[in-house]
Amino acid sequence: MQPKAVLFDAYGTLFDVYSVALLAEQIFPGRGERLAQLWRDKQIEYTHLVSMSGRYKPFWELTRAGLRFAALRLGLALDAAAEERLMNEYRHLSAFPENREVLDDLARRGVPAGILSNGDPEMLGVAVRSAGFGDRLAHVLSVHALQRYKTDPAAYALGPAAFGCAARDILFVSSNGWDAIGATWFGYTTLWVNRAGAPLDQLDTEPTRSGRSLRDVLGFFS
Ligand code: LAC
Repeated sequence: MQPKAVLFDAYGTLFDVYSVALLAEQIFPGRGERLAQLWRDKQIEYTHLVSMSGRYKPFWELTRAGLRFAALRLGLALDAAAEERLMNEYRHLSAFPENREVLDDLARRGVPAGILSNGDPEMLGVAVRSAGFGDRLAHVLSVHALQRYKTDPAAYALGPAAFGCAARDILFVSSNGWDAIGATWFGYTTLWVNRAGAPLDQLDTEPTRSGRSLRDVLGFFS
């Protein structure tokens, strides 16, 4: 049975967060990669922290908070100008080069595609527009209205509600290991795009498949 729809995570999956590390390296030579990694980890940790506490702050604010923490942690002097440059880079991320061709292929096959992201609608809108993906996505779903972040089941439930089919009939694609696991627990058919060759989370759950690039999506349709 082939999936009836494909739902993508946004940051790190469709949009390449690596350019942020390049800019961070320009601003803080020798520390850019570490800063970018700590920033990303803290951003995600904050989503889990607020969600578990029944609180909410938009993803954009948590992204800024994560950056400030990461700079403090590394003892880097992050002035307002550097903060704005890095945040602005995050707003205008480029897409991975293979993405357009994968989205085009799905469109040719008549398979609807969408995004389900922690990002708030404004930042997602800018990212989708900058990448020119608007006409390829049937749904751009943000957890913002729910005020619950992935991996809360209520967040994953947005997918089946939008596409009008069961989670197992939707292929959920994420390059974040924790997101692939959360989506698998929810009931999606899943692909973990493990671009960095990271180890699998040791939680006795495996995504339906693992791959190295977004092209591995197409393997579900051959
Ligand atoms: C997202 C983050 C988690 O787009 O990558 O939801």
